[in-house]
Amino acid sequence: MPIINRVADLTDEITAWRRDFHENPELLYDVHRTAGIVAEKLKEFGCDEVVTGLGQTGVVGVIKGRSNASGRVIGLRADMDALPIEEATDVPYKSKVPGKMHACGHDGHTAMLLGAAKYLAETRNFDGTAIVIFQPAEEGGGGAAAMMRDGVLDRFGIQEVYGMHNMPGIAVGQFAIRPGAMMAAADRFVITVEGKGGHAARPHDTIDPVVVSAHLITALQSVASRNVDPLESAVVSVCSVKAGDAFNVIPQTATLLGTVRTLSPEVRDLCETRIKSIAEHVGNAFGAKVGVEYDRGYPVTMNDPDKTGFMAEVAKAVAGESGVDLTVPPLMGAEDFSFMLEERPGAYIFIGNGDTAGVHHPAYDFNDEASPYGVSLWAKIVETGMPAR
Ligand code: NI
Repeated sequence: MPIINRVADLTDEITAWRRDFHENPELLYDVHRTAGIVAEKLKEFGCDEVVTGLGQTGVVGVIKGRSNASGRVIGLRADMDALPIEEATDVPYKSKVPGKMHACGHDGHTAMLLGAAKYLAETRNFDGTAIVIFQPAEEGGGGAAAMMRDGVLDRFGIQEVYGMHNMPGIAVGQFAIRPGAMMAAADRFVITVEGKGGHAARPHDTIDPVVVSAHLITALQSVASRNVDPLESAVVSVCSVKAGDAFNVIPQTATLLGTVRTLSPEVRDLCETRIKSIAEHVGNAFGAKVGVEYDRGYPVTMNDPDKTGFMAEVAKAVAGESGVDLTVPPLMGAEDFSFMLEERPGAYIFIGNGDTAGVHHPAYDFNDEASPYGVSLWAKIVETGMPAR
């Protein structure tokens, strides 16, 4: 039983929603139009409850099954926000908003979960409760965490959560998932090197923050290469260096910006500790004062082994035994669904987007042919996870 017949019937409608979202991209928490349409449709489908304004602009729909002997509650989550990128496609439904586009396929994620909500509200062929969660601000705004601060998991009694993201390079109709770390934790740091400025011809009267920064950048390379176990993963990248603006002036300060990506809480802690220690001690060696602001962003997206097994089995029911890759390596990108996976067991899966441009590329487009597979997966997570009595 691959794609659900009724879901196949809904595909044109789902594609129309998706393309409408695509034409009207909105950023971060400012997803008022999208959230408004989502809420309106959930009501139209006959959801038992529709709640708006969670995490500012998040929307939740409650769909009760025919019975509730199991008392189980499964959450399905999609993201709604676009990116500040100028679209470079020539599709007829190209972004109408200059400088904004759905370059990560969240238009498709929203449309697929809406399609699943329509199907589930129509059929109710399960024993328990399905909660559909539409979050704002996945792209760096922590919208999932904002919805959680507004109580989304407790208020609806959500016991397990599932997330899905399209992935260019994986064939349409196929899925990829792995137990454990699926996406990285993403942290950022700002290092300020305070030296002593002066005339470039009298370096002995100064403490040169540019020279200190050069040593610091080199020393930071040793975190991944010499502190982290070679069988573990870590990225420490200094991505911005700012100091001075003259040929003949040694500046007073230098500022370095960078990112840290890790796949386990232990390696994450290690990287933070080592970066701070190296910064302090390199600074001391040269007589400069070095400050580190280390800002923890999205945590590791950690798939629960049992729920991953369950989601993979359901994906196989949609895509066939060979349509689910269980050996996909983790990505060093980050995902804020990770906040939900810290609080509830669940899993996050990639759905093939075919041979398209990569996500966050101006020529990217969500592949509508993937929709029926994604919608069927959502529906079957609910119907298989909470079988009708
Ligand atoms: Ni995304």
